[in-house]
Amino acid sequence: MKDPLVEKINKLKVERRAIIMAHNYQLPDVQDIADYQGDSLELARIATKADCEVIVFCGVQFMAETAKILNPERTVLMPDAKAGCPMADMVDVEELRRMKAENPGSKVVCYVNSHVEVKAESDVCCTSANSIKIVKNLDTDKPIIFVPDRHLGEYTQRVTGRELILAAGYCPTHRHIMLEDIEKMKSKMPDAEVIVHPECTTEILDIADHICSTSQMITAAGASGAKRFIIGTEVGMLHVLRKRYPDKEFFVPSSRCVCPNMKKTTLEKVLWSLEEMKTEVEVDPETGSKAIKSLERMLEYV
Ligand code: 13P
Ligand code: SF4
Repeated sequence: MKDPLVEKINKLKVERRAIIMAHNYQLPDVQDIADYQGDSLELARIATKADCEVIVFCGVQFMAETAKILNPERTVLMPDAKAGCPMADMVDVEELRRMKAENPGSKVVCYVNSHVEVKAESDVCCTSANSIKIVKNLDTDKPIIFVPDRHLGEYTQRVTGRELILAAGYCPTHRHIMLEDIEKMKSKMPDAEVIVHPECTTEILDIADHICSTSQMITAAGASGAKRFIIGTEVGMLHVLRKRYPDKEFFVPSSRCVCPNMKKTTLEKVLWSLEEMKTEVEVDPETGSKAIKSLERMLEYV
């Protein structure tokens, strides 16, 4: 039997000429109603091609903001406008300007997990799927500032061999993924492969078989001959992976692998959002027109 809530959402979606986009960390029932699902890079790409009047964005503020920057003429709605990203709050535009002043002539690579003002002050954006390619593409004679994620920055630095000037931001959810938890699980399942997100700390990255963005995890698990996987990222990924590979088993290392902000969006709020056409994401046009350049540069590079 069809869920009446889902039926109402689907009907209103057609009336409003809306599409629903969802990040891989969303609650399972929200993932299941999405027209498009993916990691930050895929969602940004889809946003540039969206054939619709309204985008209902199920994710966190910086993702919905990115969709709005890339689609200034479309209405972008967030079912829960309070779903933020603590990492994005860790570097503001004043802090970035200070870093630039201390490092004259530098180029700024800005992880998309950042506010629009920070993107506007940056040269190029990156996501966890492409930070290495982006940094490799930059001139070798200029210092590179990387904001806000220290761990993704350290990882990118290690792989590219380029020295980066790092900010001190981090993701609380990924920082709480503990080496002991993974080791305990691995001792019970020695055959399991470990796939982790580059927002994890270096000691976690050091023991991983694969380090990748959320959507790249789907490819890594599919290409591997292993049957069991320990997934070092937010718990929402389990639904994505179990649906895609029902013959394989997926586990997160602990019950702390939860991003509370990603869990704020529910089906009820998606329906409310479409009914009331709320909450609309607003981006100051002048700041947005600067920020779009760093996003477009990223999309061009990769
Ligand atoms: P992805 O771009 O890999 O999906 O990651 C987004 C994010 O917020 C990870 O915490
Ligand atoms: Fe931000 Fe971490 Fe949540 Fe991703 S998982 S949205 S980086 S707080």
